[in-house]
Amino acid sequence: MIRYNKYTPFQKKDIYETPEYVIADILTFLDKNKVEIYEPFKGSGSSTKIMRKLGFTVHNGDHKDFFKQTFPKPRDKKKKIILLTNPPFSIKKDILQKLQHDNVGQWILLLPASVLYTMYFRDLFKNKTVKLIIPRKRITFIDPKTKKPFGNRASFDTAWICRGISLPRHINLI
Ligand SMILES: C[S@@+](CC[C@H](N)C(=O)[O-])C[C@H]1O[C@@H](n2cnc3c(N)ncnc32)[C@H](O)[C@@H]1O
Repeated sequence: MIRYNKYTPFQKKDIYETPEYVIADILTFLDKNKVEIYEPFKGSGSSTKIMRKLGFTVHNGDHKDFFKQTFPKPRDKKKKIILLTNPPFSIKKDILQKLQHDNVGQWILLLPASVLYTMYFRDLFKNKTVKLIIPRKRITFIDPKTKKPFGNRASFDTAWICRGISLPRHINLI
């Protein structure tokens, strides 16, 4: 049995949220008439609110801890569920391992681009197709307490890492 890191909601560095334009950009790749979204790391609920505002049905999971959640079922049986989230980066390895272990077919994670160069990413995905969506610029994340941008742009590049998603290209530049 895989043992994941403990639930880490209080790690300060992991709390910063996704700006609205970044979520709007990624949702242009999805069709709200065909998919529902599973956002398991809802934080203050801001990303969920934005996705709902843009017309998507959003599920947040049946437990506050992602590692204890069961994959949701679509409200509309004709739709598929895609996991889409900006997760806590400090536990990205555990998250990727869980997605592979649970055989989750369709997911999109916003992660530091450097994850592509880690040994664990190589071990998990070397024989699999992974696609990328590259944000249009470095992201300034949002402080959930003030709802304002937190400092300057991030000091690292990010990419939406995608598995099982139909996209125009393998590497998609927004
Ligand atoms: C980087 S923030 C992003 C929040 C939201 N996904 C967004 O894009 O705006 C990640 C959130 O996941 C929460 N979190 C950390 N560990 C978690 C876990 N094991 N299960 C569920 N949420 C967790 C953190 O408290 C934080 O609010």
